[in-house]
Formats: sequence, C-alpha cells, structure tokens
Amino acid sequence: MRRILLKNAKEGMMLARDIYSEDGKVLIASGQKLTNSVIKRLKEFGVYDIYIVDDNTEIYIEDVITKEIKEEAFQIVNDVFSSKYINTQEITSEIKEIVSKIISTLLNQKEIILNLCDIRTVGNYTLFHSLNTTVLSILIGIKLGYDFDKLMVLGMGTLLHDVGKIKIPKNILSKRGPLQEKEYEMIKMHTIVGYDILSSEYKFEQNVAEIALFHHERLDGSGYPFGKTRDEIPQMAKIVAVADVFDALVSDREFRKRLKPHMAIEYLLNSCSTHFDSYIVSKFVTFISLFQIGTPVVLNTREKGIVVHNNPKFPSRPIVRIFYDSEGKRLAFRKDIDLALNFHYYIVDVLDDLEI
Ligand SMILES: [Fe+2]
Repeated sequence: MRRILLKNAKEGMMLARDIYSEDGKVLIASGQKLTNSVIKRLKEFGVYDIYIVDDNTEIYIEDVITKEIKEEAFQIVNDVFSSKYINTQEITSEIKEIVSKIISTLLNQKEIILNLCDIRTVGNYTLFHSLNTTVLSILIGIKLGYDFDKLMVLGMGTLLHDVGKIKIPKNILSKRGPLQEKEYEMIKMHTIVGYDILSSEYKFEQNVAEIALFHHERLDGSGYPFGKTRDEIPQMAKIVAVADVFDALVSDREFRKRLKPHMAIEYLLNSCSTHFDSYIVSKFVTFISLFQIGTPVVLNTREKGIVVHNNPKFPSRPIVRIFYDSEGKRLAFRKDIDLALNFHYYIVDVLDDLEI
C-alpha cells in the first residue's frame, strides 16, 4: 500500500482504503479496481490523494478502530448533527455505548502508533473529525493514567465537542477567505450552544458539557468564548484542544489544504505554553505517527523510499523501504533502512508521490 496523488492514479490500480460518503456510508470499497469513472468520481468528491495496493511495499495498515465501530460512530454523529434521532435519551445511550466500545478497543491494544490514513472528503469532515478527535483524546487520557469512567467523560465530550455547530449557518462554517467580525462571533458561539445542548437537551453531566464549552480556550487567554487562562481551563478541554487542532490541521477543508502530520506536530510544539499544555502535547507525540505508513519520503542521503513500518518507541524514526539511490537511480534490490537503528539517517522531506 502506498499513497499517491489522485492525478497520478491509473485505471487498473486497486484502492487500499474505503472511501466514505458524506453521511458515513462506504461509497467506494477498498479492493475496488480503479476505472476512469471511479477516478472521476473521486475527483468530484474533492479527494486529493489515495492509497493503492502495491506489491512493492507489501504493507497494509491494520485499523486501530474496526470498520464496524467506525461506521456505528459515523451513524451516531450523523444522526446528532442532522438532528435525525427520535429522542435524546436514546441517542445519549447510543453515544455512551459507542464511546465505551472505542475506549475498550484502545485499552486492549498494547502499543499504539496511530496512522490517520483514512481518505477523507471535504463533505465528510465532521464525521472523521469527531471520531478521530475522540480517538486522539482518549489515547492522551490513557497516557495520563485516566480510569475508565474518566475516559468515558472525555470520550463523550470529545465526540460531541462541536455539536453547537448545528446551530451555526453552514455557509459561515465553510466560508472561504476571511470572516467578518460578526461571522467570527457566530462561530465562537458554537462552544456555548454546544454546552447548552449537552447539558440541557442530552442531560450529560457538567464535565462532559464543559468540554464543548472550553475546547477553544487557550493557555494565554487568547481563546474563546471567555478568554480563560491556564488553571481556569479544565484538563479535559486542554486535551481536546490538542486533538482538535491536530486533526483539523491534517484535514483538507473548503478553505485550505491540509498539513502533513510532522508539520502539524511542529505547529503544536511551537504553540506549547502559549496555546497548548506542553505536558499534554508531550504525551500526544508518543503515539502519533509523524510519517504515516505508505508515505513517500526523502532521506538526508537523498535516497527516496516509502515508510513501511512505524516504531512506537521512536515515532519520528520509521523503517523506510528505499527505491531510489542518492543519484536517483532505481534500486534493483529491496533495501530497508530502520531509522531507529541508524541514527545518521533522517527524513528531510515528505513527497506527495513517488513512482515505484
Ligand atoms: Fe470547535
């Protein structure tokens, strides 16, 4: 499996990851051979790059979250965000159940290094964002030693941290270009509205609702809605702030292209102590893969290859399968370099594509 730009996709290549529709259903399943019409459809969905099955790399990413849990979570988030559920009591118990399933799954895995390699479309941003942010927050919570009950609070609050957006006009949420002051004020309101929905409508306990309320507060007081600082912000909201910003940065949006994970991490590290809690960020970087499996990279030796394995002990030092030598010549034989064992090698660039 490797990542390629959609514009370089050719008929006959096989898709290695499912593509989901706006409402969270599998639209094009992994294993599907690409045809010109499938490629055209992907373009229409705003897909920029895809993962294809590739004999040269012989890798496949095992999902941390199973397909069943993912689809169930998408269904629930979709019901919440489109207000499709019958009653709040029913949806609340569904939320509890899915969050406890996610927590159990994550607790049952020894060493996790997360590859966020789902192919997202601009249309299903909310679904992936809600689920990914929840997984990231729970993993941080586990690293901080939270027990199951605390993880439940964190998970439920994270899954619905942006629920207040259902009351904000869509054209403002996805507006390209700078927002007018009035529009920005409306966007800020999603925190307070979210708090009201979670506490009054869904009857969640206070600390669940507070995650929605405080997830845009920043340590230096530059956040919203209140401009709270350091100890005034609950720890769970600080966790969600990190997970939320990271996932938003690595996603394509209507108004900007995504950052590569190592750049998003750099952003978080640079904003530690002003925006984000550095202890939380230090826990976060222990399980997030900086260079995702299937990603083409360039080493300091100018050799080029594909990341084929991530080492949970060294997220910045994966195993790279080299395909081109330092002169740009295609290697006749496979050569894997484990950057965790060879410290004189390091990654200097991440490519969009590499023909192999
Ligand atoms: Fe938000």
